[in-house]
Amino acid sequence: MTFNPMDMTGRAVLVTGASSGLGRAAAIALSRLGARVFLLARDEVRLCETLAALEGDGHGHLSFDLNSVDDIPKVMADIAGRFSPLSGIAHFAGLMQTKPLQASKPADYESLYRVNVIAGMQLLRSCAARGIVTDAGAAVVLVGSVMSLVASPGQGAYAASKAAVLGLVRTSALELARFRVRVNAVLPAHVSTQGADTSNHHLTPEQMEQFERKHPLGFGRPEDVANAAAFLLSDASRWITGSALTVDGGYTAQ
Ligand SMILES: NC(=O)c1ccc[n+]([C@@H]2O[C@H](COP(=O)([O-])OP(=O)(O)OC[C@H]3O[C@@H](n4cnc5c(N)ncnc54)[C@H](OP(=O)(O)O)[C@@H]3O)[C@@H](O)[C@H]2O)c1
Repeated sequence: MTFNPMDMTGRAVLVTGASSGLGRAAAIALSRLGARVFLLARDEVRLCETLAALEGDGHGHLSFDLNSVDDIPKVMADIAGRFSPLSGIAHFAGLMQTKPLQASKPADYESLYRVNVIAGMQLLRSCAARGIVTDAGAAVVLVGSVMSLVASPGQGAYAASKAAVLGLVRTSALELARFRVRVNAVLPAHVSTQGADTSNHHLTPEQMEQFERKHPLGFGRPEDVANAAAFLLSDASRWITGSALTVDGGYTAQ
């Protein structure tokens, strides 16, 4: 058999945001690497579309609103009990928003922070609870953004939430190491998805071309981010924790 350090056979991985975009691509990539994948998002129909696109057997799914952050520990216990203790968690559920500072309201910041950060924090807290992750430990990937590193007008609430993801990743990597839980982030630049397209709907075709030129390798594809997340969830990254991997076609290299 060919050696593959990213082989995920026998691993159970939870993917949030699996009904769309990057989360859906990650779920598919992980299933191709042999993982059993548990899909979570709100939209049951689109979750089932992802389920149908997975390779292999034994996958699961749950329609759940991550705004209900207080219920996340119970949901994690249910998933671990009914599906399997987890080897990996990829938190791709997230909200994007483009709104100038002067038009922003506290509620805009609160709603982005709730799903992008607090839900991630609750998933991470669960890793320290008995029976949620395997005895061999687990790897967690949170999705940040290049907007946590560089600025763009109108991205205040979004950038603030993604900068918080970086702080959460580094701190929880230290706190969860004793549970053999690794925590890392991927920081994508622009990839066309439902969420990104909605967030950029105000841009003209010319502005989108200008935006693409800021990416030396052009815009990315969902699978580019999915593969980076799969690497961070696999044993190929066994000694990597507390790090943030830019997946940005060179956007932040300039
Ligand atoms: N695409 C990009 O260019 C890009 C760049 C940098 C970072 N990111 C980050 O990547 C992540 C995924 O974005 P995407 O581009 O894949 O966007 P997307 O296509 O809009 O997908 C977002 C996912 O999050 C889920 N979700 C949103 N709110 C939820 C909630 N309250 N409870 C449960 N699930 C919820 C959605 O599912 P339901 O609607 O079914 O609940 C959907 O599956 C986000 O954190 C985003 O900030 C994206």
